[in-house]
Amino acid sequence: MVKARLIYVCSSCGGTSSKWLGRCPSCSEWNTLVEEKCSGERRKGLVVLSGKGRPVPISELKGSNEARITTGIGEVDRVLGGGIVHGSAILIGGEPGIGKSTLLLQVASNLAELGNRVLYVTGEESARQIRIRAERLGFLPDTLFVYPETCIERVLEASSELKPSIIIIDSIQTVFTETVESAPGSVSQVRESAAVLIANSRSGDVPLFLVGHVTKDGSLAGPRVLEHMVDTVLYFEGEQSHQFRVLRAVKNRYGSSMELGVFEMKDSGLMEVEDPSMVFLADRPVGSSGSAITSSIEGTRSLLVEIQALVSPTPFGVPRRTVVGVDYNRVLLLCAVLEKRVGIELAGSDIYIKVAGGLKLDEPAVDLAVVAAMVSNHLDKAIEAKTAVFGEVGLAGEIRAVSGAASRLKEAKRLGFTRVVMPKDNLKEIKGIKGVEAIGVSLLGDAVDSFFAL
Ligand SMILES: Nc1ncnc2c1ncn2[C@@H]1O[C@H](COP(=O)(O)OP(=O)(O)OP(=O)(O)O)[C@@H](O)[C@H]1O
Ligand SMILES: [Mg+2]
Ligand SMILES: [Zn+2]
Repeated sequence: MVKARLIYVCSSCGGTSSKWLGRCPSCSEWNTLVEEKCSGERRKGLVVLSGKGRPVPISELKGSNEARITTGIGEVDRVLGGGIVHGSAILIGGEPGIGKSTLLLQVASNLAELGNRVLYVTGEESARQIRIRAERLGFLPDTLFVYPETCIERVLEASSELKPSIIIIDSIQTVFTETVESAPGSVSQVRESAAVLIANSRSGDVPLFLVGHVTKDGSLAGPRVLEHMVDTVLYFEGEQSHQFRVLRAVKNRYGSSMELGVFEMKDSGLMEVEDPSMVFLADRPVGSSGSAITSSIEGTRSLLVEIQALVSPTPFGVPRRTVVGVDYNRVLLLCAVLEKRVGIELAGSDIYIKVAGGLKLDEPAVDLAVVAAMVSNHLDKAIEAKTAVFGEVGLAGEIRAVSGAASRLKEAKRLGFTRVVMPKDNLKEIKGIKGVEAIGVSLLGDAVDSFFAL
């Protein structure tokens, strides 16, 4: 028996050090090293994959003609890139109470009702709690097996007996493998448990869902390597107080990582939102200043969303800038461009920017709408009610072309908008679209005038 000794493991990159350091020597992150027990030789991750295969010509391998497994929930299938790929590992992260277990229980029940055997391993809740949730959601399929267990070895045993066609682990932070001594939730435990589970699902061609906790700053708890090990990383987001939830792919080996699914949290579970644009615009304050509508492309579809701004004189001291839903630094950059190129004085103002509905937008095409909302509130003039806005803003104050102009314009038209302020360079792509006036702008100064003019 080798004597256990202490090592320090980085919770961000998984690197190790024999003594505690303020900064990780591998990834240079601050304050990420945590103490862990380690007994002698460490097994390398994914070692379980070795020893079984041999080199095979690529033409003899199974290909994409094997159909994906549909979850029965359209929005989930879309985010996964058209359904679950056999043998793939999917990590789903989200804040406490956002609805991860609810979503996966719905996926599990749907799959079970379609005749698949599903193994739902719960390390957080008792089997009874899962049953109560399932009753509330309105289904109790016979082929859905709930297993309250945290030991990976026993889960694998159960899995080889039950031969499920899908395995769900809720959550990866609560399970442990006997081969690692440290506590569940620790870096090496999470990494090794995940490695064993993933290797098992690869070799058996069984898809695997892992629920992951997130840290205070919103990134997945546990080692970054976890994100590399799985095939797909999904985030389940939303504001607790809002009933809307957004499922977003941040990494996907089998589909676009820009895709987005929208749900509404109800008593009876998560409902798919058929027309997200309609929902995001529902509570829009028409006729008040500081609100701009943009047409944003998320994955394969366009969405109309409202961007709100509040610009008010700073009472004292340094002006505040608070940004929710778009990139903070981009907003600062847009403020600088507005000051320098259009001559709108913002240095003495507090600025608050928010994307309505709890969405997060990270494409540059929303720039122009952020500017529109700020200018509108600054001048205290409402943007014309049937006008939508999109375009990237450059440092020279130029409006740059964006991708998918036609699809953005069509979405705006579908929701009853009659005017769209957009990059001039995109006008040639939208010639065929009738019934909506497209105003092409190439300079921020001109754009600002057209937000209000009729
Ligand atoms: N009886 C109920 N009626 C309506 N909504 C409920 C009810 N019970 C729970 N919910 C909703 O479900 C949410 C909790 O969902 P769930 O347990 O799936 O979250 P989770 O992401 O798995 O959380 P955790 O990280 O704690 O496991 C609650 O925040 C609430 O919105
Ligand atoms: Mg849960
Ligand atoms: Zn590190």
